Parts: sequence; structure tokens; C-alpha cells
Amino acid sequence: MKVAVLGAAGGIGQALALLLKIQLPAGSHLALYDIAPVTPGVAVDLSHIPTAVKMTGFSGSDATAALQGADIVLICAGVARKPGMDRADLFSVNAGIVSSMTEQVAHTCPHALIGIITNPVNTTVPIAAQVLKKAGVYDKNRLFGITTLDTFRATTFVAELKSKRVQDVAVTVIGGHSGATILPLLSQITDVIFSAQEINDLTKRIQNAGTEVVDAKAGGGSATLSMGQAAANFTLSLVRACGGEKNVVECAYVEGDGKHARFFAQRVLLGTAGTVEYLDAGKLSTFEQQALAGMLDGLRQDIELGENFIKN
Ligand code: NAD
Ligand code: LMR
Repeated sequence: MKVAVLGAAGGIGQALALLLKIQLPAGSHLALYDIAPVTPGVAVDLSHIPTAVKMTGFSGSDATAALQGADIVLICAGVARKPGMDRADLFSVNAGIVSSMTEQVAHTCPHALIGIITNPVNTTVPIAAQVLKKAGVYDKNRLFGITTLDTFRATTFVAELKSKRVQDVAVTVIGGHSGATILPLLSQITDVIFSAQEINDLTKRIQNAGTEVVDAKAGGGSATLSMGQAAANFTLSLVRACGGEKNVVECAYVEGDGKHARFFAQRVLLGTAGTVEYLDAGKLSTFEQQALAGMLDGLRQDIELGENFIKN
């Protein structure tokens, strides 16, 4: 398989490229692209790690060389938050970057699976969908907003609070990837009992975990290492599903059945050509039902902002 990372010289891009160089199956090709001139050097650096993954790296204003023949494209090009900013504040810069990257994907590798990392994910994924539609190559089963970091955080925080092993905790996170739109379904975790206060506090912590990192980095950016690992995990799930492995399930922000919003983070069953089944959220507690109802107007506005950015 060929995997292309766009924005590969950044904090997430370099961590992700390292993790993929180590973990992609033998015979894979990992292509890096970024406007930053250092990018070919990042590829040379990684190429000295003894794994059977071919490395190439490109910089400049055009990603074509990295995209040619790509099966999976990961987009993390763009700017990150600083303290005091919301993810929505990144829209003015990142909307154009994601639109341009997706246009190049549509032109060069229109059948690739696309994972969008660049924020605001609630809006950049609808932007990518519109760009692909305009180019006549949209397949909703192949486009994903990567929300794996929300499930990572939910898992870590629940395991910490309840003294469980992380491998024994699985949390579904639905909605979107910003503030109140991030909804962990804590009521569905088996073998754990939470008080109402714990549910409230944990939900808030998971929703604000990105800001926790932004504030801790004090102007030095947002989550990069945990996100690198989250995106690598998601990518490896795509690779395994493409290779024919069954029962590969991930949470991602996708265009599902539109029951709640046109784009919605939910569990998806992956197959050889992307999503093969959009899985229902299942039974929600009263707290979760109220949180879901409360987020939908905001999420729909985020989606419309992205769609209108391309339509208008
Ligand atoms: P960063 O600033 O470290 O890296 C961004 C990279 O993008 C830089 O190397 C830059 O040169 C490159 N870039 C900018 N414009 C470009 C263009 N037009 N073409 C090609 N490359 C371009 O930022 P980061 O910390 O890696 O974060 C990247 C994005 O990921 C941000 O928008 C951030 O908010 C988002 N993010 C998303 C999640 C998530 O859960 N989905 C988690 C963390 C961060
Ligand atoms: C995160 O959740 O860490 C990312 O979306 C980055 C951010 O701005 O919070």
C-alpha cells in the first residue's frame, strides 16, 4: 500500500510518519509532503530505520509526487491552536489548505481513502466532501475525519479513574470533534459504575482535553504525539481492513445516515473500500440523550459553514 501524509513536517506529521515507518506492513510506501523545505530530509532521516517501508519526501507548492498512486491520504497540513483559541478560530486559514489538498487528491488519486486531521474537523471534513463532489469523485465511504484521539482520551481517563487496565476499557465517542460535540458514551462501558458527578466531570474533561494540552504547551501548539499515535492506529486499521481483515471497527467523523447531522462521529465497520457499515450508537442514558440534543444545532452550523465555503 502507498500512504501519503500531507503536512508531514509538522508536529503531528513527523510523529505519524515515524509511527507508520515502524508499523506499516513490509513492502508499503510512505510518501511525505509539506510546504516546508525540510520534508525530503525528514523522509531521508526516517529511511535509515531498518523496516521494509519505502520512504519518499517532497516539498514545494504541489503534492502531486506524494499523491501519485496513493491508497490512503492523511491530511494534517494547517495551523494549530494557541491558548485562548477555539478550534473554529482555525477555520479562516485551514479551510483553504484542506480544500487545496483535497483538490489535489481528487485530481491525482481520486479513489484513495482520505483521513482528515486538520481542524476544525467538524468543518474541514464537509469541505473535503464538497471539493470531491465538485470534482465528481466523492464516495462518502472513503472520507473520514479522524477522531481517534477522543476515544484514546476517554479510555485513558476512565482507566485512571477506575483503576482499570486500558486494554479492558473501550469507549465509543460520538458527535464531532470540538467542545460539546464530543460525546463519550460512558453509560455503555461494561463493568464500571459511575456516580452522576463522575459522569459529568469525565465528560467535561474529555470534551476539554484538547484545550488541556494547548494550555499545558503554553503557546507551543496542540496535541501532536498522542495525535500521531491516534492517527497511526486509525491508519493501520484502514490498512488491515483493506487487506481483508474482518471486524475492524473504529470511531470516525463520517457522512452516515444523517439521522442526527449530515456528518457525525460514530462507530464504522471498515472493509476493503472504506466504510462498509455505519453502526448505530445504541442505547443512550438520559444524560447522553440530553447532551446529544444540545450539541446538534452547533454541529449542523459547523457542517454548513464548511459546505457553504465551497458552494459559495
Ligand atoms: P504544525 O504547525 O506542527 O504542523 C502543520 C504543518 O502543516 C507544518 O509543517 C506546515 O508547514 C504544514 N502546512 C501548512 N500549510 C500547508 C500547505 N498549504 N501545504 C502543505 N503543508 C502545509 O501543526 P500540528 O500540531 O501538526 O497540527 C496540524 C493540524 O492538526 C492542526 O489543524 C491541528 O489543530 C490539528 N489537530 C487535529 C487533531 C484531531 O484530533 N483531529 C488533534 C491534534 C491536532
Ligand atoms: C485536540 O483535540 O487535541 C486537537 O483537536 C487539537 C486542539 O486544538 O485541541
